[in-house]
Amino acid sequence: MKNLKFNIWGIIAFSVIAFSCGSTEDPLPDVKIPEDKEDIKDEGVVAIPLKELFKDFFPIGAAVTPQQADPGTNHGVALQKHFSSITAENVMKPDALQRNKGFYTWEGADRIVQFAKSNNMKVRGHTLTWHSQTPDWMFYDQDGALLSKEIAMEQLKEHITTVVTRYKDDVYAWDVVNEALFDWDPNGVIVYREDSPWYKIFGESYIDSAFVFAHRADPNAKLFYNDYNSIFSWKRNKIYDLVKRLKDNNIPIHGVGLQGHWMVETSEQDIRTTLDLFRGLGVEIQITELDLPVYLSNTEPGSTVYTDTFSFRQKQAYSMIFNVLLDYSDIITGVTFWGIGDDHTWLDQPGRKAFPFLLDEELKPKPVYFEVQKLVQSRQ
Ligand code: GLA
Repeated sequence: MKNLKFNIWGIIAFSVIAFSCGSTEDPLPDVKIPEDKEDIKDEGVVAIPLKELFKDFFPIGAAVTPQQADPGTNHGVALQKHFSSITAENVMKPDALQRNKGFYTWEGADRIVQFAKSNNMKVRGHTLTWHSQTPDWMFYDQDGALLSKEIAMEQLKEHITTVVTRYKDDVYAWDVVNEALFDWDPNGVIVYREDSPWYKIFGESYIDSAFVFAHRADPNAKLFYNDYNSIFSWKRNKIYDLVKRLKDNNIPIHGVGLQGHWMVETSEQDIRTTLDLFRGLGVEIQITELDLPVYLSNTEPGSTVYTDTFSFRQKQAYSMIFNVLLDYSDIITGVTFWGIGDDHTWLDQPGRKAFPFLLDEELKPKPVYFEVQKLVQSRQ
């Protein structure tokens, strides 16, 4: 299909050149031939690749599978075109890298890193320490009992050191600890996710240790604490306190990752208040997992069609979000979508598509893309 389009534009180009060669009067007409016809909006506006659009503000990234990081696929082409940063969606998580103790599986992660290197993209590492997608042997012995602090610590150290050392020259930033804080409790007193095996074994001190191990393995890497619901007061204050404690104790932490699994009705004030608060910590901020499902709530009936209403909601929401992010681009050092286009997202359910990105299921710019483009251009 793509070749066919190329041929059509090639024929037009050839005709223009052939025609003008036969004429002695007129100079070559100023016909601009777009590289990719589908990037044109109705009104004739050409989509600027995202990485160009945001180049004065921050790297723009996508979370990917190893299969997508392949220049021979549509996903690979879209990645090359639009993104300046890349995150492994799953294959750098503990259960993917070291499912069995002592046996590492590097293939998927290596493919992503290699693709990024060949295409001059940054790589964010995700994630070193998490209660989820982590093999049981990191927490439990063969009888299912929690490991001792000593054994669990040795294993955590070995894992972090091995992984960070391997990608020392390639991964510039790591989500060292993911989602260690309790989400919400009615009385607001539970700080840490106490049901995490990490917490059960160590209390909160594993967080400090993980950052130290990562820093020792690569003193140049930017080290992040990453969490969701981070723009709500009950969560952001816990993140603030945690990061402040780490910094006060000289633990090497450089940034906070706001996952950014937001909603179309996400409050602008919540985002601004959070960014203002974290600015006071003197750390970098990255939006690490941005996606915006089209629904107002989890109970709104699902659709498999991208309606005008969905498009309207996303235009409003994404414009607001990027307007805010540009306002804080002095502290925001990266924005990553948790996927490439609407064809692949963890948010889809049978009969209920989420359509959460700027690129559609064919990885072409949606109307909301052009709305964001207009916004960014107005800020340049
Ligand atoms: C969390 C994790 C990610 C990913 C997403 C959803 O936010 O940090 O690794 O699992 O959930 O898939």
